[in-house]
Amino acid sequence: MLRVAIDGPGGTGKSTIAKAVAERFGIEYIDTGAMYRALGLKSKRLAVDPADESEVRTMLDDTVIDFSGGRTMLDGEDVSGLIRTGEISMAASDISKLAIVRAKVDEVSRHLAATKDVVMEGRDIGTTVIPDAEVKIFMTASPEIRAKRRYDQLIEAGKEADYDQIYKETMERDYQDSHREVSPLRQAEDAVLLDTSDLTLEGSIDAVARIITEKTQK
Ligand code: DC
Repeated sequence: MLRVAIDGPGGTGKSTIAKAVAERFGIEYIDTGAMYRALGLKSKRLAVDPADESEVRTMLDDTVIDFSGGRTMLDGEDVSGLIRTGEISMAASDISKLAIVRAKVDEVSRHLAATKDVVMEGRDIGTTVIPDAEVKIFMTASPEIRAKRRYDQLIEAGKEADYDQIYKETMERDYQDSHREVSPLRQAEDAVLLDTSDLTLEGSIDAVARIITEKTQK
């Protein structure tokens, strides 16, 4: 069994790196953040208050989320593109504070990792979702670099972007994800810390691949 848990704040290159590593090892890639984003999107659509647990519970009871084959499915709809906005990033962070929401995403995530080798990426994979993962990596990068990477991504996609605004939002979301009560973002004691600030994408992918090889050859 090979389960690789990659955690860390947004903008470290985590998703791109995790996806490439999964491809290199020929195993499944699972993006847990995408599932929180899908639930954030649904809460916006239905005008559900993320702070109102009973409203959220009613929504969850009537929701099917899935992340397989690399697409994020919300009630059978492919929302992979719709969830990649600044507004939905914050909605995902807001709704992810609730234990009932985390339980739902955890259940789907654990089910996906139960029978196959995976690279799973998020905030609490090594601490909560798969605490016995064979490989755990905590990825970081300086706040300025993370904001710059988000900015470049948006510009590349032909979208409008304001660096200062992105920097502010990045800091706000980090703070919120690290200070919530349930399963906050933190490094697992047995996770390898990887700072990607000065690494290229290829360099980061190689570094993760090396960590996996080292850990699994022991
Ligand atoms: O990785 P991301 O930016 O797509 O995640 C969106 C939000 O979802 C993030 O701000 C916090 C939440 N999240 C979480 O609480 N736990 C995870 N394992 C993954 C994401």
